[in-house]
Amino acid sequence: MRALLGVVIVLAGLSACSAAKQEPATADLQWAETSRPVDARLAERYERSCAVCHARNGSGAPLAGFAPHWKPRLDKGINQLVQHASDGFNAMPAMGQCNDCSAGDLRALTLFMARSGT
Ligand code: HEC
Repeated sequence: MRALLGVVIVLAGLSACSAAKQEPATADLQWAETSRPVDARLAERYERSCAVCHARNGSGAPLAGFAPHWKPRLDKGINQLVQHASDGFNAMPAMGQCNDCSAGDLRALTLFMARSGT
């Protein structure tokens, strides 16, 4: 009985650990809420499209700037991500609901959210 209890406690500890790794901290949430691309034209596009989903945790979209959400996606290659942003991907709408975004804009906005550029 005591051994069983030990197993339960270890399992509870493990799941708490992995949850903590995936959950954004307050600083991550603040970064996502307040950060915008430096370029004013991109910032405006970001504000009215991507930010609606990507700046809010729990929307199902990878949180802007939060590496644990972006790292596994970046492993697919940036071109694949930009292609998905353009074509749509599951609940991600085609063009991210930014119909006047060019392919270059989608790439820059993706890099901004993944914090690997701009
Ligand atoms: C209506 C909500 C919504 C908007 C607006 C939105 N996204 Fe997304 N986005 C999502 C969701 C949800 C996912 C996760 C899809 C999945 O992995 O199933 C996602 C995923 C992505 C991905 C990762 C795709 C992959 O292959 O893993 C990229 C890149 C992306 N969005 C870029 C953008 C850009 C750039 C904009 C603005 C131009 C934008 N999104 C606007 C909801 C949105």
